Amino acid sequence: MPCSIAPGKVILFGEHFVVEGYPAIGLAVGLYASTCVEKGEFKIYSRQLGPIDPSSPLAKPFLRVLEEAAREFNCGRDYTIYIDSGIPVGAGMGSSAAVNVSLTHSLLHACGAGFTREDVSRIAYMGEVEVHGKPSGIDNTLATYGGLVYYKRGSFKRLDTLLPEGVELVVADTGVKRDTGVVVRDVLEKRRRLGRLGGILYEAAGELVEEALAALRERDVVRLGELMTVNHGLLFSMGASAWVNDYLVHRMLGLGAYGAKLSGAGRGGIVIGLAEPARAQAIVEELEREGVKAYRVKPDYEGVRLT
Ligand code: MEV
Repeated sequence: MPCSIAPGKVILFGEHFVVEGYPAIGLAVGLYASTCVEKGEFKIYSRQLGPIDPSSPLAKPFLRVLEEAAREFNCGRDYTIYIDSGIPVGAGMGSSAAVNVSLTHSLLHACGAGFTREDVSRIAYMGEVEVHGKPSGIDNTLATYGGLVYYKRGSFKRLDTLLPEGVELVVADTGVKRDTGVVVRDVLEKRRRLGRLGGILYEAAGELVEEALAALRERDVVRLGELMTVNHGLLFSMGASAWVNDYLVHRMLGLGAYGAKLSGAGRGGIVIGLAEPARAQAIVEELEREGVKAYRVKPDYEGVRLT
């Protein structure tokens, strides 16, 4: 029975703004969702959640992926799905995209389809639509291709060679889970309420991503960190933060990170910080001492693959 794994992700710059067509930069990281698929009765088992009722809302994205694969590749709909994810759920690390991508990949293998990564990403995206309404597509792109990615709705560029050496990313988990779809809708609503000012903040976010790209090219990690913190400020302005995110941003900066920001949808979920390796380790140890779940993450350059 084919089994595929797909990586989770962090977003370095541009989440939320990316939903409205502005650019973003994300990195696939070495935490994985694994999905195995075999021909048989339509059933879903999750190692973390147990059996999932096929008529429950949780099953909707999987059904959508099966439907799309049936329509495009004649795969049929009768498959048993086994999911095992090591990516925290509802934390902004792309767990749903990694599941949808690994499911699509193993399903297309199980049905013997001739397919490309582009097919996997497109079909998994339809699963993502069921999860949170208006996804930009960055999460399924990162889970499919891996690497450091500059993304603008519908197109992307790999930036792997620009990933700076001598710095690491620290993830701190607020432990607060939230619904991406709700935060995305609220942020879009706030943009409308703010009118012209909302437009200016979105333009600023777009400009910030271009400046981050320049900082990556110049290997200027101090500037990169500073831009991450500015990005957090913009996300705060748009209502995507919560006091736990702001607290952990302050904590990471206080402990010597070059920069820190919420990553993903926000209002809980994770905060990321950029720091030299020894400093990153010290930040992890101190946050853990304070009772915060924190760890360093490594890039994944491969994206989805069979195991
Ligand atoms: C979620 O990882 C990132 C958001 O920008 C939503 C999306 O891009 O689909 C908040």
